[in-house]
Amino acid sequence: MRLSRRGFLRTSVGTAGLLAVGANLTLPPLLAAAAGKLEIFSWWTSPGEVEALQALYDVFKPQNPGVDVVNAALAGGTGAGGNMKAVLQTRMLAGQPPDSFQVHLGHELIDSHVKAGRMEPIDFLYESEGWANVFNQQVQQIAASDGHQWSVPVNIHRSNIIWFNNDLVAKSGMANPASFDDWFAMADALKAQGIPALAIGESNPGHAAHTLETILQAVFGPNDYKGLWTGATSWTDPRLKDALSTFNRMLDYVNPDYLSVAGADITDYIIAGKAASMINGDWTNGYFKSKKFTSFSYLPTPSGAGVYSALADSFGLPVNAPDRDNAVAWLKVCGSLAGQDGFNPLKGSIPIRSDAGKTAAYDDYQRWAMNEFANDTIVPSVVHGFAAKESWVTDYVNYVNVFATNRDVDAAANALLQAAQDAGVA
Ligand code: GAL
Repeated sequence: MRLSRRGFLRTSVGTAGLLAVGANLTLPPLLAAAAGKLEIFSWWTSPGEVEALQALYDVFKPQNPGVDVVNAALAGGTGAGGNMKAVLQTRMLAGQPPDSFQVHLGHELIDSHVKAGRMEPIDFLYESEGWANVFNQQVQQIAASDGHQWSVPVNIHRSNIIWFNNDLVAKSGMANPASFDDWFAMADALKAQGIPALAIGESNPGHAAHTLETILQAVFGPNDYKGLWTGATSWTDPRLKDALSTFNRMLDYVNPDYLSVAGADITDYIIAGKAASMINGDWTNGYFKSKKFTSFSYLPTPSGAGVYSALADSFGLPVNAPDRDNAVAWLKVCGSLAGQDGFNPLKGSIPIRSDAGKTAAYDDYQRWAMNEFANDTIVPSVVHGFAAKESWVTDYVNYVNVFATNRDVDAAANALLQAAQDAGVA
């Protein structure tokens, strides 16, 4: 269990700085305004996440030396960032927002905060900073709501990657498997030696749902998968049970304690050689880097080549942000070239700016990912806020958690149909 790092980074204004600002009336207004506090709320407390967020602060600080940066990060919980999202929701409802907060681009931001009127549009920044031209166009279209932009994406993560522990895969005598058939062949070879082929951490709901979304993408194909979340593909389609059955079969090869390990801790199972492969997003790349683990390799998830399941982390401007000027200065850093090229190499993701990603700080995985992103079919991740509204994601995540526990394919198919109906889509 990781502890909240709330407030771990605090720098103070310094009396000398205040005096200097007060005494020199010729200072530009921007500099004179750079005092006070900046509270940034996120769920980034894991290896890779912490360093990447710090890299953004490291760009912000020299530009805003008088500002007290308060890193309010809250770890773990149900689903991706569940604890943090719950606390955030309470604060937003109470009219006590942080200055800015981490939120997934797409439905998560729009349905949870924008529609409720609790965010400021930030088109003025897209204009003044030139983001409309340098940010990926497709992502801008998905992010827009009511013709406005509501947050600044710092990255693009990919959710459909399978990560391998090289030493364990070698014990199967096979190459990294690209298809389900090859994966099951590897899994059988490893099972005969008592080695789990698949790592899952499902003590809190989330990782099983993440794993299943990538199976849905492979089984339905990109267009019909997208249709599941728009109503164009029926949840009574027989391929749903195919996907659930495939996942059910994979669970025969999982780490035996998968219901008592947290999703946030499961990457350590790959590092420690407790399982040969794991399906997870490319924050795993940042995690491995932080832990200096190098004996890994990766592929698109089984039978999922050519599909790029995307999500983006972003920051926005809550209405009544207590330190609005500092929040605006923060957002500028998030969208800047220096910000994105500082953050992404550590986070494991790729930048959203077309002029970023060219430095030596990016690794082989990231160079490969940038190329894949340019050529693949992009689909939205559901667990990570891009494809569906938060209430539906919560139902989906919870029903898949039940499925991972009771492994009842028919019951899960009915529950997922019900969830879609409740969401008003089926
Ligand atoms: C995702 C988030 C990533 C990473 C991950 C960890 O939802 O977008 O930045 O933090 O959760 O589970």
